[in-house]
Amino acid sequence: MLIYAVKDYEELSRKAANIISAQIILKPASVLGLATGSTPVGTYRHLVEGYQKGDLDFSKVTSVNLDEYRGLSGDHDQSYRYFMNTNLFNHVNIRKDHTFVPNGLTEDGAEECADYDARIEALGGIDLQLLGIGGNGHIGFNEPSSVFTRGTHLVTLTQETRQANARFFASIDEVPTQAYTMGVGNIMAAKKVLLLASGENKAQALYDTVLGPVDPMVPASILQLHSDVIIVADEAALSLLNDKI
Ligand code: GLP
Repeated sequence: MLIYAVKDYEELSRKAANIISAQIILKPASVLGLATGSTPVGTYRHLVEGYQKGDLDFSKVTSVNLDEYRGLSGDHDQSYRYFMNTNLFNHVNIRKDHTFVPNGLTEDGAEECADYDARIEALGGIDLQLLGIGGNGHIGFNEPSSVFTRGTHLVTLTQETRQANARFFASIDEVPTQAYTMGVGNIMAAKKVLLLASGENKAQALYDTVLGPVDPMVPASILQLHSDVIIVADEAALSLLNDKI
């Protein structure tokens, strides 16, 4: 694991955008695995700036997102499709038909999951997978569990995760109870993984991810077994790890 320790959220966002930019410059037809949540918002802002300056070209990029709430349409302002459109896709020259997010409204969940895995496979796999991390160590919506999951699947969200995401909704009752997510296997199959962690509320999860045992109760801990992981974390997120790395 390559760990970049940065000062704060702004530095984290710049560093992450630089790494993603390097990926796109080195391989214009990259398949990017993208993430939502508060953490990557600044990264996407910097990528948009890079595009506006003429330094970045997304015309050959394809994206596959990690997850989507079940029951929300892409027009819902809390859906992850909407998040991606408004934070990145609407502002760069990526082809919309080259952007993929699980369909939260699909009738047949099993078919949606199988199709999503087949799509990733047909694209030749993910070149760079961007990840945030949940306070309980979840990645995508892979919640702590007794097993590591393989492919895209439907999950029931923990109360903790729904509570953490309730800040985006009018009330916790409106937070969907289920979501589609790539599996840990999909994430581990990505050629490169870029995990971002900002803030003190991520310090324990980051500590467990980097130094804890590989344990499905901390889904991100499996990244210890991936051969090309970059972590960008700020001082607060690294507060428990500082003298240990
Ligand atoms: C959600 C997303 C994750 C994200 C996590 C942390 O549950 N499904 O992909 O990493 O929240 O979000 P935040 O970056 O807002 O702390």
